[in-house]
Amino acid sequence: MKNPFLFGVVVKGHDFCDREEEINEIISDLNSGINITLISPRRYGKTSLLLNLFDRLDFDTFYVDLMGVTTARDFLDIFLKAFVEKLGGVKKITSIWKKFFPNVEDLQINLGPFGFNMKIKPTIRNMEEILSLPEKIGRKVIVAFDEFQEIVNIKEVDLLSLLRKKAQMFENTTFIFAGSRRHVMTDIFTNVEKPFYRFSKIYNLGSLNKDEAISFVLYKFNSTNIKIERKVIEKMYEVCEGHPFYIQYISHTLWNICNTKQNCGEDDIENAIEQVLITERPMFETLWDSLTPNQKQVLKNVANNISPYEIDLSAGSVKAALDKLRKLDVIEKENRRYKMVDPLFSIWLKNL
Ligand SMILES: Nc1ncnc2c1ncn2[C@@H]1O[C@H](COP(=O)(O)OP(=O)(O)OP(=O)(O)O)[C@@H](O)[C@H]1O
Ligand SMILES: [Mg+2]
Repeated sequence: MKNPFLFGVVVKGHDFCDREEEINEIISDLNSGINITLISPRRYGKTSLLLNLFDRLDFDTFYVDLMGVTTARDFLDIFLKAFVEKLGGVKKITSIWKKFFPNVEDLQINLGPFGFNMKIKPTIRNMEEILSLPEKIGRKVIVAFDEFQEIVNIKEVDLLSLLRKKAQMFENTTFIFAGSRRHVMTDIFTNVEKPFYRFSKIYNLGSLNKDEAISFVLYKFNSTNIKIERKVIEKMYEVCEGHPFYIQYISHTLWNICNTKQNCGEDDIENAIEQVLITERPMFETLWDSLTPNQKQVLKNVANNISPYEIDLSAGSVKAALDKLRKLDVIEKENRRYKMVDPLFSIWLKNL
């Protein structure tokens, strides 16, 4: 039988757990034309949430992944490609060309064996023209930018100002900006000096709901004929603090361990967590090695739930280390306390 737990890919349908409350709130905001900024640490399920949300919207939806974008040209290529693909491909677009691109200069379209490729010169005029594409569709449109923080890599033009200038005039287009670099995203959307200040409602995507996550895992074990008690899954949920990726990753590993004996106990959970820690170790080690001695000391305290100021360092040095660790998305502040972003990195660190 096939392992029913998926990780490292976008999950949809039966592989997507819950998020009902989040999706309903976002749908209601989008219906009112409110732009959304969706922030969470890595692998919390932003992309999966966006695509599952899309399936439930009556609007035209466009998904624009900005991962790896470093230049205005990259941005335009990706933006344009997302639209052309959605609108029916190059052939269709060619026939309605003038409606969408009345003023575009120097556009090249290459049709190759792996689909098409469009190149457009990143002049200000072209950028304004391309950014206005969603509005020209003439119906309500949702544009979701994934990995939106990457936009700050683009240095040759002030794309944020340009996008804001255009977007604020749009009547039919509502945006979702998703990203995982918390400090970059927060700076874009809450810094009073930045163009996107108060442009959107900020939505922090948290852990999976406990009951829903446990039922999800239980169902997948039971439907593949493996016996497991709810309390065993609850233990796993607590260890990984409801982190969606780790729930799937540990469950996947646990399923492999228990598949032949068709029964899962608490020892198996410990075994599965241990296996995941071993696999992830090189990544944790690389991150750990990249930190300065001060940052390491501070981080150890955070992982062990001790005040970071209870070490033999000046308050200024601790503050500097905390700031840097936050910028790296290694720690976050929750209810005035610092906590580790990655629950398994935290366990690894405690065992160091
Ligand atoms: N609602 C969910 N139900 C079940 N599994 C989920 C859910 N959300 C996320 N996951 C798990 O987490 C993994 C990562 O999800 P996804 O790629 O959507 O996250 P992301 O926040 O976009 O990550 P990244 O920051 O790396 O882009 C998925 O492969 C899946 O295992
Ligand atoms: Mg993603």
